[in-house]
Amino acid sequence: MHKVGVLVSGRGSNLQAILDRIADGYLPLEVAVVISDKANALALERAAKVGIPTVVVARKECASKDEFEAKINVALVEAGCELVVLAGFMRILSGSFVNQWQQKIINIHPALLPSFPGLDAQGQAVNYGVKFSGCTVHFVDEGTDSGPIILQKVVPVLDDDTEETLAARILEQEHKAMPEALKLWAEGKLEIFGRHVRVLA
Ligand code: GRF
Repeated sequence: MHKVGVLVSGRGSNLQAILDRIADGYLPLEVAVVISDKANALALERAAKVGIPTVVVARKECASKDEFEAKINVALVEAGCELVVLAGFMRILSGSFVNQWQQKIINIHPALLPSFPGLDAQGQAVNYGVKFSGCTVHFVDEGTDSGPIILQKVVPVLDDDTEETLAARILEQEHKAMPEALKLWAEGKLEIFGRHVRVLA
């Protein structure tokens, strides 16, 4: 069984979606460790509830970003992880971390990239006035939300949407998109050619 490490910062509903789809047999994966940069993240409780080891690496307790990322790296390696899943992890990883895990980091972003990268993607979409938004699961490269796209899911943006109502509609799709992408990865069906990810039959 492939082992993955999940990096989180907060609520952990995407982590929960992964755990639920492992539990129901859809996802052939083991979450070997959940790592949070916030000691009070609800995601840590979700992991602990099903016996998954958790590690907290607080940025402010590290002298540098290098030290912060080195600690995360040690936790991932010690747990035997082959893939790093960013599920609501609110920090940008450095180029050297990304290179160490080249093509082995997957992120979910709550917009249809390349539109609205960075923070507050749902608010950006509402303010811009787009008619559709959604979520994107992608491999992580050195840029912000710029790596090769694995899959996307689309939702309508309604006239009376607020950031919150749109975020809720997108989140429902996130909870489908991430397990789908991870299943493709676990089954060896993803091939990366430059910016393009091909899904094998
Ligand atoms: C999600 O919208 C994710 O796309 C974004 O942060 C949010 C995390 O939610 N990067 P959760 O912690 O998985 O509930």
